Amino acid sequence: MLWRKVYVLQAEELTRIIYRQPKDYAFYPLATSATIKLLDLRKTTANLLQQLNHDGGNVGPVKEFHGVFKRALLPGPSLDTFVKCALEDLKVELSPISPVETSLRQWVDVLAIRVGTAAIWGPKNPFRVDPTLIEAFRKFDDDCYTLYAYPLPRWTATGVFNAREKLCSGFAAFYYDGGIAEASEILQRRFDVITSHGVPVEETARLDLALVHGLLTNTVPVTLWMFHHIFSNELLLEEIYQETRGLLNGDTIAIKDVREKCPLLVATWFEVLRLVSGFPSLRTTLRDTTIKNKCLLKRDAYLVISGVTPHRDPEIWGEDVSEFNPRRYLNKSGKEDLRGAVRPFGGGPFMCPGRFLAFAEVMSIVVTVVLHFQIKTADGRPWTVPKIGMGKPSLGMHKPASDLDVIIMRRSDYKYVEWKYDLGDLTMSSRAF
Ligand code: HEM
Repeated sequence: MLWRKVYVLQAEELTRIIYRQPKDYAFYPLATSATIKLLDLRKTTANLLQQLNHDGGNVGPVKEFHGVFKRALLPGPSLDTFVKCALEDLKVELSPISPVETSLRQWVDVLAIRVGTAAIWGPKNPFRVDPTLIEAFRKFDDDCYTLYAYPLPRWTATGVFNAREKLCSGFAAFYYDGGIAEASEILQRRFDVITSHGVPVEETARLDLALVHGLLTNTVPVTLWMFHHIFSNELLLEEIYQETRGLLNGDTIAIKDVREKCPLLVATWFEVLRLVSGFPSLRTTLRDTTIKNKCLLKRDAYLVISGVTPHRDPEIWGEDVSEFNPRRYLNKSGKEDLRGAVRPFGGGPFMCPGRFLAFAEVMSIVVTVVLHFQIKTADGRPWTVPKIGMGKPSLGMHKPASDLDVIIMRRSDYKYVEWKYDLGDLTMSSRAF
């Protein structure tokens, strides 16, 4: 990266132009080289990804690998299947009735990682077969920037290096144990595409880690921040609780109606994303271009498109730009009003395809917990939302700077209720993303 020009783009109008021209500003070259370094792929796998990564990766196996998954993540039957399976797992995870005292982050990590991966890897989900992989993933996710930044990470970043190797062994064991036969159809198709290029199982397992990372690195911290903001604020909690009660039909929770019936909860999701998303969109310039007749971008340079700048602009958000205020997305009659520039998912053809799944999963977890559980601080003191942890560069959402010990218990009025979900179809989540 040192010998290339790097342009940092902050102006919203330029960003939109870049997003719309994937033939000039490519997504895959940088994503591919970062993946190779992060996962320490063998030369043959790296060559496969790079050699065929021509035309900015708009054709070739990287696009093929991503393509299989991207299509399945769009609203439709396969996304519905993922979410249905995830909800089954959520029921199991949340079924214990006895109160538990725990670190909030630990509790959310276990819940969101298991629920987020269950549907894709199926009954032999490596995170379920070997629960110690959850801790390994946390280590990997927290410190993976050192695998790029430090020389000889085996010796200079031993902890995260070992965590990565443990995860890769766990995913390889999944294949050797025949897990793929019972996994989601989409993982099977991805496996077929990858192995058709002669990629061995150990390397497929490494590529799975990239998938797991994309799947979890944002959704897990967003879930945690949602809990912090909702449960620390009695008024907000009560209002969201009342909204979520509107989803109940007997013991069935109509997750499909969240977008329509829970405007304050949806506004909380957008406000959390605005405040904690930090990772920029990255592109490589494929040729010399001039945007808006004034800005020359030379070929073979890197573009860093700031995701943060528009989220922190007082001209867009007003004087309370740094405050958490979900009501900024509601109009006078309390309905959703999404004016403004919340852009946590990037843009153009490479805009995050996982945004619908992320919305459905995070909302399902939060709605279920708000309806059925109480969470209190373990020491009985008022719950203060932690500061954003800016200490480490993040490849996804910023995490809280500190953790909190909490007691989690079933609400007395819902103690023995066994709930069900009504998923309908997920078009509810596709508007306005
Ligand atoms: C709140 C949750 C999430 C956030 C904020 C988020 C954010 C992003 C961003 C900013 C990008 C880059 C887009 C660009 O450069 O224009 C991206 C790409 C991507 N995300 Fe997400 N993501 C989330 C959840 C997910 C989930 C659950 C998945 C599921 C696997 C996923 C899969 C992907 C993939 C595959 C890409 C690459 C797109 C491509 O190949 O064209 N993301 N995401």
